[in-house]
Amino acid sequence: MPRALKLFLHRLQLLALQITISVMSGRKPVLLAGPGSAMRLCGTVVELGARRVLIVTDAVLVKIGLIAPLAQALEAAGAVCAVYDGVEPDPTHAQIEAGIALAREHRADAVLAVGGGSPMDAAKVIAACVGNNCRVADVVGNFKVKKAPLPVYAVPTTAGTGSEVTAVAVVTDTAARAKTPVVDGKLVPVMAALDASLMTGLPRAVTAATGMDALTHAVESYISGFANAETRPLSVAAVRLIFANLGKVCADGSDLEARQAMALASTYAGFAFTRASVGYVHAIAHNLGGLYHTPHGLANAIVLPHVLDFSRDAAARQLAELTVEIGAATSAEPVAVRAQRFIDRLRALARETGIPETLDTLRAADIPVIARRAMDEAQGFYPVPRFMVQSECEALLAKLLP
Ligand SMILES: [Fe+2]
Repeated sequence: MPRALKLFLHRLQLLALQITISVMSGRKPVLLAGPGSAMRLCGTVVELGARRVLIVTDAVLVKIGLIAPLAQALEAAGAVCAVYDGVEPDPTHAQIEAGIALAREHRADAVLAVGGGSPMDAAKVIAACVGNNCRVADVVGNFKVKKAPLPVYAVPTTAGTGSEVTAVAVVTDTAARAKTPVVDGKLVPVMAALDASLMTGLPRAVTAATGMDALTHAVESYISGFANAETRPLSVAAVRLIFANLGKVCADGSDLEARQAMALASTYAGFAFTRASVGYVHAIAHNLGGLYHTPHGLANAIVLPHVLDFSRDAAARQLAELTVEIGAATSAEPVAVRAQRFIDRLRALARETGIPETLDTLRAADIPVIARRAMDEAQGFYPVPRFMVQSECEALLAKLLP
């Protein structure tokens, strides 16, 4: 199909999507924030009527003792708990179906998600499938959740995904080696606790990668065609907080103040991108993750500067504004100079936090299929500032080869 026709269809589909997003549920979770807020959330879950809670998490968090105090707090408040800790990075249909089976067996009336993006995404899909008496495959795609899910409460233990406030969950189709998004306003959790005291033990590499995921949400939502007066200040706040604090938490993981700032930044970016969407960085990162299991934040971090190089002129004004917001320029400097400086500062932050410039698992032979899948994902769905075609995506991916 010629580029011009593809672009026309892309814009037509985006218009329909924008109308759909504007009429879908605009629920925003209630936020609790600060050290100790996760324990407070447990009491509130019961006050709001939950009596049989399924905690959805991963085995590592159970092993390090992070889950037991939360389960005890729920039970002390009067709830009966079951724990599903079978979620692994990039949760599969089978892992989520096992969680759905346990939720039914436990007769859960609420779900508490504790963990990074994978447990939170799995919890959202479990709650949706129990509420709709259906399977994971039935809700994969856009706006397929018909009835209300079980109420979801979220306690993120990384500062990156923003899943605690978004209408998105990503599930992995093992057979197709592909990640597929579930998008629906009904997935948004009821309440979230941003508790930095649960994040101080996070390893440096995970801290860096998840922080770069949050930065990608903030930047892609800011340069998006769907950005609006509500989302822009949230994207800007997230970018400012991340440039000020990601280096600090990577240098000293026990810095509670910087951890709390990163948790807030991640949530702000989540609020922004669940309305303004993301772009080609995510389209490419999802497909690197589907094929190689590359951690989502790491893939984003490696891809982000290259997509911004590609989009620099089309998004020059927005990138120039962000450069002023992070204190790296004055608004008197030319837009093009400031836009380039934002990308330079981004590369410097990636270096400082130990993000590699290339992806060691990437194979040249896989580039055409990754590019095709990324272009398919983005077509008509991501409101990007500059349209990309297959050959341009392949050229971009070639720069990531080890
Ligand atoms: Fe992301």
